[in-house]
Amino acid sequence: MRIPESKIEEIRNTSSVVDVISEHVQLKKRGKNFVGLCPFHSEKTPSFTVSEEKQIFHCFGCHAGGNVFKFLMEYHKISFVEAVQELAEQLGIAIEVEQTDYAEQQSEQEILYDINIEAAKYFLNNLLNDDEGEHARKYLQDRNIKTQTLRSFGLGYALKGWENYINYVKSKNLNLDKCLKLGLIGKTSEGKYYDKFPGRLIFPIFSPNGRVVAFAGRILDPRDTAAKYINSPESIIYIKGRILYGLSFAKDEIRRLDKAIIVEGYMDLISLYQSGIKNVVAASGTALTDDQVQLLSRYTKNVVLLFDADSAGIKASMRSIEILLKRDIDVKVVSLPKDEDPDSFVNKYGKEEFEELVKKAQNFLEFETNHYQSLGKFDDPITAAEAIRELVKPIAMVQDELKRNFLIKNVAKKFNLREKLLETELDKQIKQERRFTKSGKRISEKRKLVDTNELITDNMVEISPVQYNLEKEILKLLFEADKNTAELIFTYVHAEDIVLNVNRELFQLIKEEYENDNTRGAFTTSGLISGLKDEKQEAYVRELTFDNYAVSGDWEDRFPSVTSEITMMKFAKDSVLKFVVERIDKNIQSNRREIELTENEEKLIELMKANNELEIEKKNIKLELSAR
Ligand code: CTP
Ligand code: MN
Repeated sequence: MRIPESKIEEIRNTSSVVDVISEHVQLKKRGKNFVGLCPFHSEKTPSFTVSEEKQIFHCFGCHAGGNVFKFLMEYHKISFVEAVQELAEQLGIAIEVEQTDYAEQQSEQEILYDINIEAAKYFLNNLLNDDEGEHARKYLQDRNIKTQTLRSFGLGYALKGWENYINYVKSKNLNLDKCLKLGLIGKTSEGKYYDKFPGRLIFPIFSPNGRVVAFAGRILDPRDTAAKYINSPESIIYIKGRILYGLSFAKDEIRRLDKAIIVEGYMDLISLYQSGIKNVVAASGTALTDDQVQLLSRYTKNVVLLFDADSAGIKASMRSIEILLKRDIDVKVVSLPKDEDPDSFVNKYGKEEFEELVKKAQNFLEFETNHYQSLGKFDDPITAAEAIRELVKPIAMVQDELKRNFLIKNVAKKFNLREKLLETELDKQIKQERRFTKSGKRISEKRKLVDTNELITDNMVEISPVQYNLEKEILKLLFEADKNTAELIFTYVHAEDIVLNVNRELFQLIKEEYENDNTRGAFTTSGLISGLKDEKQEAYVRELTFDNYAVSGDWEDRFPSVTSEITMMKFAKDSVLKFVVERIDKNIQSNRREIELTENEEKLIELMKANNELEIEKKNIKLELSAR
């Protein structure tokens, strides 16, 4: 069962983590939080902390923690969906979407879905019935797409001209600004609206539940020099990296066959489906994302990649292999004959030939080996060493140790190498992977004690206590910050000035989120925590957000729940200034030490100049910040 994201959100927002946990653990109020004896490890003094404000729990003893769902999952040893269901039941929230009082209850999302479904119907009608749709009908006919198929996939046609769809929107009294948000229309700098897909063949893009979340539009005339496909932008109902084209059509068959075929293009999927091969999803022209793989892994752990044989396709395959392996998925790769894609192949040779081709899929290692071989990499010892290192890379992603060993033996045998050599390389890469990966977490493993100290002590010797506290203060601010405050911080605080590795990584992560505009104006700790894939990092962030790490004693007064933006800004300025001053002063002091030691006149003058400049920089930043 798939519960809509919005429903999960509603359940989380309606529930109280303190109420839920209180039913199982005796909690006592302490300051702003509640504490009790941890149910996940045995202890005599309470280190299990629950925050009503943050809606999270955290144990300072065993570092277990997370949101309300996580608690129920771990406490009752149940799945995420079961936890959501249990909580929904307690709260009296129906998980099936009710249709009562429609107009009132319609959320923003529902309105957007409605606009999309209206648009899809409109485009489909153009394709089936409009005179202008004739050349699009002809186009599909030439590509052997039957009417039944185009109806199944809800294909459509957007009329030429800049205002046809807009006029339709107006006639239906739909909200133009919402259409703009969905990318169905555009707006010129003069504020004039225009149709986004004129003259294009339309592919609605469906969520796994079969709701229309976006559109792609393909040019029909091969002489057209415009982009071959135009795709809807992301919106609150469409996050690109989380959608797999065709999943809603394919999921039952994927489950039944316990295997999914991944192709690149919309047309590949549609043609295969029409020919009776229905366990297919499309990556839409790029490498898979981790979210897509996670989505798919609910239905099967066996994937066959069937990307185009061109270099873009091979690159996408290689990237996708790594991402699939990380989630413990068994990956095979099919190589198509040159100049064919799945669509052209199945139309030319038919279903049986296609199935033969899939049967001949190679395991990922064979595929990569063949690829490097075809590039001549094994002819010269230097490139051969490189290629072998590349081959070990995907093996390092495999979560199962037995499988890894087996694969290593395989490579060793093939290239007549000492296994030990490969094992050393493998160990190195696994260590590296652990350090950098965001998804190294092994979900199936039993809970282990998480030691966040390891993270901190990593390079603790390099940092002064003052700097240490300032770094954490900056991070804490970022967890609470609104857009303006975050921007201020990013203007003056740079990742390279952050000494502690763990802090710098988090800082960069948050910065990326802001830059990609994933935060949609707000950034919440629980949101960030659910985005973190490394358990230690996750526990570290939770600890930061609890007051154990409060820098100033008056932190509670400073952040009574989410402080108003103005107050927040004031404190941010204060902390940023302290941080910058600390950085500059540190440089000045180190210069001073050198000044005392140096006997070289030139060097001396240089150092003094540098210090003058640093003083000026300090003064300027002070002025700038007080003027903001
Ligand atoms: N794609 C895209 N934008 C482009 C080109 C491609 O989004 N400008 C995505 C589409 O999802 C497309 C996939 O990449 O389906 C594969 O691209 P390509 O192989 O060029 O197109 P096909 O799907 O093969 O389309 P067709 O068969 O109609 O040429
Ligand atoms: Mn194609």
